[in-house]
Amino acid sequence: MPKALSTQPTHDAALIASFSKQLIQWHKKHGRHGLPWQSITDPYAVWVSEIMLQQTQVATVLERYPKMMKRFPSVVHLARANIDEILAEWSGLGYYSRARNLHACAKQVVTQYQGKFPSDPMALEGLSGIGRSTAGAIAAFAFQARAPILDANVKRVLARLFGISGALQEKKVTDSLWQLATELLPRSPQHMPVYTQALMDFGATWCTAKQPVCLTQKAPCPFEGSCQAKALDQVLAIPKKEIKKKSPQFACAVGVLTHGNTVLLQKRPAKAIWGGLWSLPESPWQAQTAIDLSSTVQAESLTGEQLIGLILPNLSSKKTPALFGGLVRTGMGIKHIFSHRVLQIQTYEMALNAKAKKELDRSIGSTENQFIWAELDTLEQYGLPQPIRLLLEGRNPARGGAESDQYTNAAPIALKSSS
Ligand code: ADE
Repeated sequence: MPKALSTQPTHDAALIASFSKQLIQWHKKHGRHGLPWQSITDPYAVWVSEIMLQQTQVATVLERYPKMMKRFPSVVHLARANIDEILAEWSGLGYYSRARNLHACAKQVVTQYQGKFPSDPMALEGLSGIGRSTAGAIAAFAFQARAPILDANVKRVLARLFGISGALQEKKVTDSLWQLATELLPRSPQHMPVYTQALMDFGATWCTAKQPVCLTQKAPCPFEGSCQAKALDQVLAIPKKEIKKKSPQFACAVGVLTHGNTVLLQKRPAKAIWGGLWSLPESPWQAQTAIDLSSTVQAESLTGEQLIGLILPNLSSKKTPALFGGLVRTGMGIKHIFSHRVLQIQTYEMALNAKAKKELDRSIGSTENQFIWAELDTLEQYGLPQPIRLLLEGRNPARGGAESDQYTNAAPIALKSSS
């Protein structure tokens, strides 16, 4: 009779006792070496690298991490920086709450800990943007603390090795995994940095979600003889897959209003998506129904007045709409895929003459939003959402972007203008 899987780990004492040694041995030959954030013990540098690596591929971090460290060489530099500078440096990496949390955390370290990161994982976890696993990683790398990590890759490795078949979202499953992650730690604190890196590397490169080496047979897995999932032929079934809900879809119009070599940017509210970034003025998002989505109608052509009404609905002065009667060009459609929603952006371009700009400035000057006419060749100074940056730099947003953002050229969409 086949053995049944359980939500509780099998207590394989021999595996628990030998795991860290075997893993460190594996890392010598097969792990990732020479990455710029390895072999450093400055907690600030470790922390910045861990936050950047959370949702971003190693290849991207390799390029961006040195720039970030050069611009903000210490926690004091980061704490004293303006959030706009930090967002500009973070531009394109996606998940901008990480950048806002970096700033908040740096300020906490300066004010609550005299600029020195605490070594206790529990104290680290109390800081903005640091979860339990990241706290463990920082404590292990910077302070050789015997603190476990449990990111998605590590969960998968442990669930497979110990035959844990329950859904990872269930509390009792997560509790068992934390318990295991703690039991597996090497006894000697000095092994913590290499062990932690080895565990991350093993999950990211060998025991992968779809092509683990035990199935591709590209290399011999050091744990093949003791892996419960392998013994039960359940490697791809563990961890249990979450049933994903379809992401809700939205549409909006975005205005590229230019005057000479400048373009109008608007500061996004702090709590919104892309919070605190500069972007183009946009219409409120419209939830898309199945009918909207199946339609392939051409984007409406708009008059200047209609465009302004859509993207700047709160303008105080609408008394000279004729000024905005210039030519509006229907630009490209961009499909932007966030982690939990999809946004179809229809761009509209309008060049304003001096009179129209003056009128617009008068109106936007008295709204609460922040606006700026930014020179097109100084855009690198602004924290912009990646698709907007690519669009303004004349590059196709369908072909670029950070790992967290995906773009495709969308069919133009129909937007209901307000006038
Ligand atoms: N992901 C999170 N932390 C990491 C690290 N230190 N090395 C590689 N990938 C990681």
